[in-house]
Amino acid sequence: MASLLGYESAAETSFMTARTCLAIVLAAGEGTRMRSALPKVLHALAGRSLLAHVLAAIAKARVTATAVVVGPGQEAVQAEARRVLPDAEGFVQQERRGTAHAVLAAKAAIERGCDDVLIVYGDTPLIRATTLERLRAPLAAGAAIAVLGFRPADPAGYGRLIVEGDKLIAIREEAEASASERAIDLCNGGIMALAGVHALAILEPIGNRNHKGEFYLTDAVEIARSMKLDAVAIEVEEDEVRGINTKSQLAEAEAVAQRRLRDAALDSGVTLIAPETVFLCADTKFGKDVVVEPYVVFGEKVTVEDGAVIHSFSHLAGAHVGKGVSVGPFARLRPGTRLGDGARVGNFVEVKEASIEAGAKANHLSYIGDAVVGAGANIGAGAITCNYDGSDKHRTKIGDGAFIGSNSALVAPIEIGAGAYIGSGSVITKDVPAGALALGRGRQVVKENGAARLRDLKALGKKRGRSRD
Ligand code: UD1
Ligand code: CA
Repeated sequence: MASLLGYESAAETSFMTARTCLAIVLAAGEGTRMRSALPKVLHALAGRSLLAHVLAAIAKARVTATAVVVGPGQEAVQAEARRVLPDAEGFVQQERRGTAHAVLAAKAAIERGCDDVLIVYGDTPLIRATTLERLRAPLAAGAAIAVLGFRPADPAGYGRLIVEGDKLIAIREEAEASASERAIDLCNGGIMALAGVHALAILEPIGNRNHKGEFYLTDAVEIARSMKLDAVAIEVEEDEVRGINTKSQLAEAEAVAQRRLRDAALDSGVTLIAPETVFLCADTKFGKDVVVEPYVVFGEKVTVEDGAVIHSFSHLAGAHVGKGVSVGPFARLRPGTRLGDGARVGNFVEVKEASIEAGAKANHLSYIGDAVVGAGANIGAGAITCNYDGSDKHRTKIGDGAFIGSNSALVAPIEIGAGAYIGSGSVITKDVPAGALALGRGRQVVKENGAARLRDLKALGKKRGRSRD
């Protein structure tokens, strides 16, 4: 089963185990420009938080320890960091006074000593593990600082990299830059590696005498140069270092993440008929020979096994789709869905917290919630489980090979035995034993020639009505 997690195959990741490395993730910003009550790094990209993307890349880059710097009161950010990387150590930056100030909130971790200190901004989620490793390489060769640079289509808002030959001289924040410096198109990607031996000596002298009155991490380069230490820039493509400050940048990054996930799915052998219309989650997993038709959305935690077909306009989240299963078109699989091998869930069928076992079918217009549908059972068109009584949820159990007639309502808690047969249009409120036939509907009345008599009566009624006018 190919996992799309982290976007890259293990083979792409090279070894870098000789030097120890502390990664510091800066996530204390408020993200004012997102205009949202949610902390910026908790916004979702391809179904998981920006912070989770960054931590996944760091974990894959084989660092020795990870520190996450959060703002005061940002327990939710801290909790997300712990969920993704339980070993990560949390630090609180009491006041948001700039990126260098944020790094020093994790001073205790830096003081413990390590060969490399890798600083990654929490709002740069498309970074790859291999690039983090590449960034550390110049430190092994003697540089004190290495910075990721890129040439964005629109450099507004980014710091500019001032280089001379192969040396990085300074990083100039846009607010501080002269007109000629602003014309530089090589920008700061916001990811920096510092030699551990010099890290504090470089970071601590950083001041805040600038337009924003902030402690800029970017000043580290000029300070290192004044200490006769070397700094270098490594250039990467824009997509890897897109910083997310606004909702529009979040949408651009989503497009990049989706393109990567679709490419990885195609590479692993999934057939995507119109890849640009399929939306994947970073943790979507596919087996072999899976076909996904146009316009399908995958939420978190979906696994699709070999040979399954997901037809158009289906929405899946928290679902396990077994081998050779057919889903949709227009199916909705909600969390807790398990479809056994060869099961079929057809159009306008919603499944939630339910297991539909091997070979069972619910082909049309159905709701199956909090239920087990036994192997080979057939759920007729419009049949539903009535799982909620207004205050509590109840379970429905349908035995193997049972037949649930069209438009039946199974009022839970209820158990239908194996091989039982429920007549169409029944409202079933009592358990049905295995092999039984159950009917729960009004008895039909037939009156010979009744149709003609009814029409006569109606015609008479109309005449009387007119004569009164
Ligand atoms: C920063 C860089 C800029 C670079 C750009 C790349 C500085 C001074 N500028 O600008 O050169 O081109 O990133 O995307 O570093 N943070 C804290 N505490 C703070 C301030 C920020 O933890 O006090 C965190 C934020 O949560 C964010 C990261 O640091 O994850 C970067 O901060 P942000 O304000 O987004 O910096 P930019 O203006 O984008
Ligand atoms: Ca930013």
